[in-house]
Amino acid sequence: MARLSTILVGLLCGLSHFSGVVAQTTTVADPPSDLDGTVVMGFAGVNITAVLAQAENQLGVNGTVTDNIPTDYDVVGTTSTVKARNLEALKALRERTVNSKPLLGDITCVALKIVLGVAKVALAGTANYPLWNSYASNSANAGTFWSATTLLTPTCVFKPANAADISIAMRIITIVGTDFNVVGGGHSAIKGWANVDDGVLIVLSSLTGVNIKSGYAEVSAGMRWGDVFGILDQNNLSALGGRMSTVGVPGLILGGGISYFTNKWGFATDQVKNFQVVLWSGCIINANSVDNADLFRALKGGSSNFGIVTRMDLYTWPSKGVYAGQLMYTKDQYARLLPAIYNYHATGASADVETHLISAFVYVGIAQLHLGAFTAFRNVSVPDGGVALQEVLSIPTAAGIPSSLQVRSYGSMCKELGANDVTGQRQDMRDFTVYANLDFFKKAFDIWNTTIVMKYGNIPGFQGTIAFHPITKNAVAAGIARGGNSLGFDANPGNTKTITIINLTHQWSNAADDTNILAALDATLAQLIAYAKQIGVSHPYYYLNYARKQDKPIQSYGSASVARLQAAAQKYDPFKIFQNQVPGGFKVY
Ligand SMILES: Cc1cc2nc3c(=O)[nH]c(=O)nc-3n(C[C@H](O)[C@H](O)[C@H](O)COP(=O)(O)OP(=O)(O)OC[C@H]3O[C@@H](n4cnc5c(N)ncnc54)[C@H](O)[C@@H]3O)c2cc1C
Ligand SMILES: *[C@@H]1O[C@H](CO)[C@@H](O)[C@H](O)[C@H]1NC(C)=O
Ligand SMILES: *[C@@H]1O[C@H](CO)[C@@H](O)[C@H](O)[C@H]1NC(C)=O
Ligand SMILES: *[C@@H]1O[C@H](CO)[C@@H](O)[C@H](O)[C@H]1NC(C)=O
Ligand SMILES: *[C@@H]1O[C@H](CO)[C@@H](O)[C@H](O)[C@H]1NC(C)=O
Ligand SMILES: *[C@@H]1O[C@H](CO)[C@@H](O)[C@H](O)[C@H]1NC(C)=O
Ligand SMILES: *[C@@H]1O[C@H](CO)[C@@H](O)[C@H](O)[C@H]1NC(C)=O
Repeated sequence: MARLSTILVGLLCGLSHFSGVVAQTTTVADPPSDLDGTVVMGFAGVNITAVLAQAENQLGVNGTVTDNIPTDYDVVGTTSTVKARNLEALKALRERTVNSKPLLGDITCVALKIVLGVAKVALAGTANYPLWNSYASNSANAGTFWSATTLLTPTCVFKPANAADISIAMRIITIVGTDFNVVGGGHSAIKGWANVDDGVLIVLSSLTGVNIKSGYAEVSAGMRWGDVFGILDQNNLSALGGRMSTVGVPGLILGGGISYFTNKWGFATDQVKNFQVVLWSGCIINANSVDNADLFRALKGGSSNFGIVTRMDLYTWPSKGVYAGQLMYTKDQYARLLPAIYNYHATGASADVETHLISAFVYVGIAQLHLGAFTAFRNVSVPDGGVALQEVLSIPTAAGIPSSLQVRSYGSMCKELGANDVTGQRQDMRDFTVYANLDFFKKAFDIWNTTIVMKYGNIPGFQGTIAFHPITKNAVAAGIARGGNSLGFDANPGNTKTITIINLTHQWSNAADDTNILAALDATLAQLIAYAKQIGVSHPYYYLNYARKQDKPIQSYGSASVARLQAAAQKYDPFKIFQNQVPGGFKVY
């Protein structure tokens, strides 16, 4: 029958044959056909059965979970024996229990409060709950969510202080079968992607800190890019990451990450040295090029399918300052800007990999104003944009809106852009990909202008953007040089053309407008993709961090990558806790 093995390895977790952890030198073994095994926790034990009994008692639901924990299912303290048939039995309990999700949420949240205290666990009805499950900025809280479309009603909001807290929570969540989700910087606009109804919302914002090491920085998962780069600035360093200060570190990294250095070093995720991850079992493991290397690669684009990432170690480079700034253009310059963008994608971005260009066309509803909102960047400490950006920089900017182009610290550019970020509006993001093509760029702008701006530009709070971003052959090669990622570009190494990710971001004020504008955006996206196909420039990729819910970006990585991601999910989450108990997020199946 069940083969049990317990191998003590001393650090954070023991290693069973399906799961493990741990030291930089220990790897998770391949999964056997029989999944049963024992996890040995290295930190102070919590008698989870006893805690659950106490929670049930407080709620007057004695025995709901505890009576159903099989006798040989050892959830005590420092060891945790997990058997497939036991998890099946607990799953059957869930299915039997009427309205089980709210009840299991209550039992889990009260148990978490008993173990970790009210300072970390906010139940509905308490003062912290609306502060932590919020999108509004206020003095006590930066706002967990960016978009007003993402509010749900979790049973409780849990703010762990460290990975060990998350480890305890994952053991309870796994045993009870509770729904849960995790939110980093909260910049996903998709309802349910980083929040949950009737379950535990894990908010990472207390996991702060950046430790500067030689050649890399250890960045905790609750950080936002502005604070990360502020600390790197003080050390005259740079790293790949978000271009706006307000965005969260973990979501951006786990979905790819387009950075000021993408032309040179690939996606931000390509320049991660190590991930620290809490698995379903509570084990805390490292994933890097040596330990758990399959998980390491899977996390580079595989999003929230494998575990909760608690720390990312990012490679760093010395920085003597950069030449960068925003440039605003009026619509009479669009006929020059579109070819300049195309030329940059087709040649400039490859010819000078120290450069970056954000090229966004914005329509500001309240001012009835078209505005080209560009950011030019070059990694030089003198005021010189170089040849690659020359065409764009020679186009006259809008009178009265001075460019902010200057030699500055790396992080200050990110903060300047972040200052424009608005929270609490209704937001939609979507994207698609083409081979760089000038005819397409022009037509894409016109389609968007006629089908969205002309029709919806006057709804309350409207602001719309269409933006173009190049992924060059060199960016793909940089990812391969670091051992590859999950994004799938390496499947076609012969392809030498630049591809362009086109992203559409829209915001408005009233929920009453959701149905109409979302339907229009769906029609516009379909029309854009149909035209790309018609002229032969369509590319199947959907960039995950801007993708629409139904576009299945992970499946767009291609079958080889999807097969690797599924194998990693099976190995590191063999009981499908992240697949089944996290209702939102882009899944590998
Ligand atoms: C204003 C703005 C600017 C942006 N700029 C850029 C940019 O320059 N470059 C770029 O590439 N993208 C950019 N994006 C897109 C951005 O990468 C995504 O919105 C990303 O999801 C943000 O990460 P987050 O941590 O804030 O997200 P969250 O909404 O917190 O999380 C996104 C997803 O990741 C999961 N997740 C979060 N943390 C963890 C974790 N620790 N472990 C496991 N799963 C986790 C969540 O459950 C959710 O499914 C921008 C977005 C906005 C709104
Ligand atoms: C854990 O708690 C359960 C339930 O209260 C109890 O039966 C068991 O003896 C406890 N185990 C240990 C090791 O304390
Ligand atoms: C639940 O069990 C405890 C003892 O474990 C007991 O004191 C309490 O009365 C019980 N509650 C109910 C509702 O049965
Ligand atoms: C960063 O660079 C500045 C200017 O060259 C210098 O004064 C400062 O000492 C440097 N800081 C560190 C931490 O190296
Ligand atoms: C930026 O330029 C400096 C100076 O040339 C160089 O040392 C550094 O490595 C570059 N940064 C990156 C991220 O490539
Ligand atoms: C948007 O479309 C309208 C209607 O066709 C046109 O008048 C306007 O010039 C377009 N805007 C831009 C910036 O091209
Ligand atoms: C996507 O659009 C937003 C603005 O709406 C912009 O900040 C971001 O840089 C764009 N992404 C790319 C890749 O251009």
